[in-house]
Amino acid sequence: MAGSGSVSFFLFLSLLLNFSTTHVNSNEQGYISFDISNKGLDFIKQFLVQMAETSLVPLDLPKIEKSKHIPLIGTVNMLISNLSINKIHVISSTVKAGDTGIVISVSGAYANMTMNWGYEYSNWWLPVPVMDSGVASIQVEGMDVGISFNLTNNQGSLMLTPLDCGCSVKDIFIKLNGGASWLYQGLIEVFEGRLTSAVENAISKKLRQGIVKLDSLLQSLPKEIPIRNIGALNVTFVGDPQLRDSSLILSINGLISAREAHAAPAYPHLFASLEHLLASIPLKDPASMVTISLHEKVLTSASSVYYDANKMHWIVDKIPEQSLLNTAGWRFIIPQLYRRYPNDDMNLNVSIYSPPHPKIDDDQIDLTIHADVVINVLNSGEVTPVACFSMIVSGSASPWISKNSLGGSIGLDEFYLSLKWSKIGNFHVNLVRVLMSTALRTVILPYINIKLARGYPLPTFHGYMLQNAKILCSDSWIKICSDVAAVKQLSIS
Ligand SMILES: *[C@@H]1O[C@H](CO)[C@@H](O)[C@H](O)[C@H]1NC(C)=O
Ligand SMILES: *[C@@H]1O[C@H](CO)[C@@H](O)[C@H](O)[C@H]1NC(C)=O
Ligand SMILES: *[C@@H]1O[C@H](CO)[C@@H](O)[C@H](O)[C@H]1NC(C)=O
Ligand SMILES: *[C@@H]1O[C@H](CO)[C@@H](O)[C@H](O)[C@H]1NC(C)=O
Ligand SMILES: *[C@@H]1O[C@H](CO)[C@@H](O)[C@H](O)[C@H]1NC(C)=O
Repeated sequence: MAGSGSVSFFLFLSLLLNFSTTHVNSNEQGYISFDISNKGLDFIKQFLVQMAETSLVPLDLPKIEKSKHIPLIGTVNMLISNLSINKIHVISSTVKAGDTGIVISVSGAYANMTMNWGYEYSNWWLPVPVMDSGVASIQVEGMDVGISFNLTNNQGSLMLTPLDCGCSVKDIFIKLNGGASWLYQGLIEVFEGRLTSAVENAISKKLRQGIVKLDSLLQSLPKEIPIRNIGALNVTFVGDPQLRDSSLILSINGLISAREAHAAPAYPHLFASLEHLLASIPLKDPASMVTISLHEKVLTSASSVYYDANKMHWIVDKIPEQSLLNTAGWRFIIPQLYRRYPNDDMNLNVSIYSPPHPKIDDDQIDLTIHADVVINVLNSGEVTPVACFSMIVSGSASPWISKNSLGGSIGLDEFYLSLKWSKIGNFHVNLVRVLMSTALRTVILPYINIKLARGYPLPTFHGYMLQNAKILCSDSWIKICSDVAAVKQLSIS
């Protein structure tokens, strides 16, 4: 086995890393879990806050009408209308996860509003009623907002339930464009309290609606993610999310099963807007945001799906020791092969005949491959199978992640070879075994290891990728501790 085919050890891993964006203790077993640390929660919070800043505006408030007696003027009917919050600036916010759900608090935010004002009064001494109108800008300062919600598992989807939502405003400053001198004081006296409560109510209501919207979005997310047209990753949530000490643990089923060709995921718009929002969030803290744990059963399920999809066959016609793919290279080991087909090129048809079951051990992944290798002789355009060997190769892979690349090394533990059939008579299988095993250890594996040492770039997910990732293997689990960062941000730093 050589060339592209032998990279199959790593194929499973890279396949899985395709989905590393968003971990496992519950009665039901999840095979992939995400332990989102304080820092990760902070990232999600910043994301939610930015989303709120943009989705809350423009926020239209109902008009307010009131009459007031003004000395020397009389009773004035005043109206403020077309009230709109145009911008909200959040200065500081915190997130806490605990038994009572997730609480996000924002303090000292401010907002800019505009409105139209108008008044009218009439008196017996006036020939016609007096009226005037204009616009005003309003600054809302010292806004504290608290929102809490419960995160639970509803039939395999995450469900957000708003628990509490409140907003309080400290100060409101109104700046009138135009108007009479008495009007300003009048407006303040009449509307200040009402405006404050209108802003507080509107924001609480809109945030609650926001959570309901986010919830329906979460519930509508697919339960499966297609993988290269042959399988699907089961992303059904398993067990309730665990909230503790400001960390959040989510588990998904995580197994891969065979599927017919799938359509592309139906959420491009959603992801595009998420990308846009997420791209602006800076990261500083060195602690990892998320630990992704992956059980060896995930690898086994991927391996079975690949196997069932007939993807474990390779024609090997290029190896680092190309002389082994010519009958001349076998002249002294299988003399009859050379005699019958002198100086003909050969290729190897490698078929793995049972799905490999990777085992995750301390710092390595052990794998045993059972394969049939048919030797084909290529003679003037004709492919003639001449012999078939049954081969068992066991080895281990030690993966690492460095600078956004996944790499590793492969070691060979055992190698067995037996002859299955031959069209060129009997020969010394022992010699063939020694030659092949030597070629594997001294030429082919070193060659593959040089390639693996260069590493493969970690896949990105909708503009996001793992950053500062570390990979640890032990006791059936692979753990990847990582930050998540926008690809754009990475290219700048
Ligand atoms: C309402 O306010 C917006 C600005 O927030 C302004 O563009 C619009 O013209 C106003 N509508 C009326 C009827 O005054
Ligand atoms: C949140 O959900 C969990 C799991 O369903 C439940 O045990 C808990 O009582 C809920 N908390 C609140 C405050 O509703
Ligand atoms: C918005 O409000 C802030 C503080 O309340 C103020 O400094 C800023 O000038 C306002 N912006 C506009 C466009 O009115
Ligand atoms: C996906 O995982 C869930 C939860 O473990 C399980 O109930 C469901 O049967 C799985 N779906 C498939 C198609 O295997
Ligand atoms: C490779 O060998 C398998 C049997 O081991 C056979 O079914 C298949 O057709 C062969 N493929 C080629 C391209 O020779």
